[in-house]
Amino acid sequence: MGNKMIERFQHYFPGNNDGIRVFFAPGRVNLIGEHTDYNGGYVLPAALTLGTYMAVRPRQDRQFNFFSESFPNQPVSFSTQNVNFESDDPWGNYPKGVVNELLKMGMKIAGADVYYSGNIPNAAGLSSSASIGMVTAFGLTQMSGEQLPIKDLAKLIQKVENDFIGVSTGIMDQFAVGFGKKDQALFLNCRTLEYEKVPLELGDYQLVITNTNKSRGLADSKYNERRTECEQGLKEIQKVKKNIQSLGELTIDEFRNLQDNIKDSDVLRRVRHVVTENERVKLARKVLKKGDVAIFGDLMKQSHESLRDDYEVTGLELDALFNAQKEVRGCVGTRMTGAGFGGCTVSIVLSEAVPEFKKQVQEKYEQETGFVPSFYICEAGDGVKELKEVMV
Ligand code: GLA
Repeated sequence: MGNKMIERFQHYFPGNNDGIRVFFAPGRVNLIGEHTDYNGGYVLPAALTLGTYMAVRPRQDRQFNFFSESFPNQPVSFSTQNVNFESDDPWGNYPKGVVNELLKMGMKIAGADVYYSGNIPNAAGLSSSASIGMVTAFGLTQMSGEQLPIKDLAKLIQKVENDFIGVSTGIMDQFAVGFGKKDQALFLNCRTLEYEKVPLELGDYQLVITNTNKSRGLADSKYNERRTECEQGLKEIQKVKKNIQSLGELTIDEFRNLQDNIKDSDVLRRVRHVVTENERVKLARKVLKKGDVAIFGDLMKQSHESLRDDYEVTGLELDALFNAQKEVRGCVGTRMTGAGFGGCTVSIVLSEAVPEFKKQVQEKYEQETGFVPSFYICEAGDGVKELKEVMV
């Protein structure tokens, strides 16, 4: 996929080869810890080997031209005087938002021709947006010679997503696509941004992502709604526990003692999900370190059930996949991954059972929903980087 990037770039943006550089940022899959990041909780994602490749050549005329192979009929061009959000643009606002932020910071970027090629399915909950944001922010800052730490880039693209695009995402995706490492998951405390790399040693098992192939529809507005409900829950808890800053600080026992202070039953269930999910992530880290795949798998299933019953972000398609997958022999763990409302599940499946897994899940899922699922066998890959080898 990353091969021949320069050739493809040259075909679209003819000119000399001088100064063309190629960068890559992955997508991510979250193994456990859903809707905890913006509550100051823990998450355990891994970067994927799927991702976004970007070839870029600097310009000096304050003009940016972006082309994406995924949206060949919608190239994006603008000058640095005129960096505006376009509501009918399906992809260009992400890199445009990055340029906007970099300019606001006073970074010296005098323009660029940029060519993207990627293999993360869009709107599938695998962070195609954090991936394009990160590769753009990393690539352009490297080109400008003013390199920023990955942590700052992660915060910058979160700001783009929050302020320019208008979705109040947490920091998990940006962190995972920045700091991912081959064969490792990332245990991240979203309150302090301290993190630890946990080896993802699954032995005879494989990670399988299944795409519902249902686009996420209302995802953004529902996502913001869940955030507001959590903020409401936190306010009610703060009335009696004044020193608490985020729901992620609550233990299960504290929650039990304080739960009667939350009057709205929906809000109560949202908070219960956050608190129990947070505990599951901490446990998941422990058992993963011991290589206990079976307990890890149980925690994944509990996570899905909590997202279905308490947080209510699954829906017919994700639940249909979950129900079909947990019944397959050799599938020890499965759950929805990402924001929910469509998108993907992630499962841990015995390698030799993968063909049977695909067959049974496809049959049942199609019967129940009318959609055909897609499967990706995946591995944990590296975070954002420059690809020097494709330069020749
Ligand atoms: C999306 C957001 C993340 C996180 C997940 C849910 O992927 O971008 O910040 O909140 O949903 O865990």
